[in-house]
Amino acid sequence: MRGVFQRENRSRINLKDQFIYHLDNIGLSYGRLKALNQVTLTINPGDMIFLTGKSGAGKTSLLNLLAGHLRPTSGKIYGMTDERFVAQVFQDLKLFDDLTIEENLWYAYDRSLYKTKAEFISDRNELIALLGIKDRVHLKVSQANGGLKHKAALIRALLTRPQILLADEPTASLDKENAHKIFDLLNFYNVKRNLTVIWATHNRELIKNFPGKIVHLENGKLVYSGHACFI
Ligand SMILES: Nc1ncnc2c1ncn2[C@@H]1O[C@H](COP(=O)(O)OP(=O)(O)O)[C@@H](O)[C@H]1O
Ligand SMILES: [Mg+2]
Repeated sequence: MRGVFQRENRSRINLKDQFIYHLDNIGLSYGRLKALNQVTLTINPGDMIFLTGKSGAGKTSLLNLLAGHLRPTSGKIYGMTDERFVAQVFQDLKLFDDLTIEENLWYAYDRSLYKTKAEFISDRNELIALLGIKDRVHLKVSQANGGLKHKAALIRALLTRPQILLADEPTASLDKENAHKIFDLLNFYNVKRNLTVIWATHNRELIKNFPGKIVHLENGKLVYSGHACFI
């Protein structure tokens, strides 16, 4: 079985299948470097979680564990979802530089997800309009600025109609106004479409008045998990 999907482990923990992920005392080492250390965390359906912490704290490593790209060195990850339903916006975005933004978005098209091409195009155009990049979708990625690339990567991820979105610093190269646009969009998907969002960021400004959950890492350790107003 690939990735984090470990159906056979369901019966061992008694959480009544309510969670999407349960990380049980996770450690992750790269050689001698311990990137994550004794992390225990439960993520429930519909959660919107900000993963915070300084550069090097372990945010990207944790997202890669949840995505199934890495396996923990110690501890166990219980996943209640198939990784087909997980979309990821990587820190380095992974767009095709020589293609236009629009061409990149077509990579999200999957006939098993959309009844017609028109339905895909309609969703795509809605997202393009919401993020205000309509006039720039014909640009090649190599000509696009960082903010535009981040928006394109996010749209591509959402067009795969995921149940869970793992996003690594999706507002990194955006100004305040555009960062808020992304925040509002993800909040909309979270509230209206029950998308579970796990979002790594060190944009403290954005999460100051945030009603959801913060998971804060320091040197690979989970030092806070709870409401944003207490940090
Ligand atoms: N592939 C890798 N090989 C070796 N060390 C790594 C690798 N990826 C990350 N690290 C190290 O692991 C720690 C956590 O990194 P990372 O998960 O990228 O943190 P963050 O995303 O919070 O900046 C850092 O010390 C980083 O240098
Ligand atoms: Mg990172």
